[in-house]
Amino acid sequence: MPTSLFIPPPRQVYDRLGRDHFGATSYATYNYLGGGVIGKVKTQHFETALGLARTMGVRGDVVDFGCADGVLLASLDNLYDSVVAVDIRPDFIEICAQVVADLALSRTTTLCTEGLDWDQTVERIGAGSKSAVFLLETLEHIGTRDEFYESKIAFLQQVARLLAADGVIIVSVPNMVGLSLLAQRMVLAATRKYREPLSMGELARGVVLRDVSTLEARWSNDDHLGFNHRALEVALQTSFDVVHRRNIGVNVVYALRPQVATAPKGPALQG
Ligand SMILES: C[S@@+](CC[C@H](N)C(=O)[O-])C[C@H]1O[C@@H](n2cnc3c(N)ncnc32)[C@H](O)[C@@H]1O
Repeated sequence: MPTSLFIPPPRQVYDRLGRDHFGATSYATYNYLGGGVIGKVKTQHFETALGLARTMGVRGDVVDFGCADGVLLASLDNLYDSVVAVDIRPDFIEICAQVVADLALSRTTTLCTEGLDWDQTVERIGAGSKSAVFLLETLEHIGTRDEFYESKIAFLQQVARLLAADGVIIVSVPNMVGLSLLAQRMVLAATRKYREPLSMGELARGVVLRDVSTLEARWSNDDHLGFNHRALEVALQTSFDVVHRRNIGVNVVYALRPQVATAPKGPALQG
């Protein structure tokens, strides 16, 4: 029987430390630690991402970029020499720091990037120093509406500055088109969780034609609306090699390597 690489942190830690997240005690509890089939399905991207990293022989020092309240940190701390837990939200990083202390994750440190530009972020984490950056369920929230995919690629290029030679970015994004979109909408409705508003026409277009481009105008950093991993894959071709791709239904997980000379320098704020 295959062993699990993802180690769910004890729920009690979050019940004690977390803050309200859509009625749950934390982001981690709301999304992953609720148990049951949904909890299992939702944590699959962690298992897949960690499995991909193992397949690629990742060892040493890694980053969890967009770590939220740290649900993956116990797993990473168990597998790697050092882990930097990075998030732009100070409230999440505060919880991460507590989780690190409570679970005695001695290889993990935390960094809040709020107000930091990329040069400062890269300097604090260490340019060219990491075997892998895990960027899970985060890229779809990044960038601008006007340059929907270009801005996400620009963000990845900055993240790539952290990689050592042969380093890899492990990315997971939601699969928000086709039957997966329909299934998610049905599960969210059945479990009374938040759903971005969609008309029947928009839903039909997204499910049947796998076209959500008309929704991009309503995208915001807090939402997934309009995100299409297939369009991301086209945009990736300009600067990254997709070394592995795993479509696991509700998510798609990639292992990316930057093509040569893809990482620019620049003081632009993250986002
Ligand atoms: C949907 S959560 C994903 C959390 C976790 N990686 C997971 O797989 O569930 C996205 C996280 O990315 C963080 N984030 C968004 N933009 C960011 C940025 N520019 N720099 C660092 N973190 C960012 C958010 O604060 C949030 O915690």
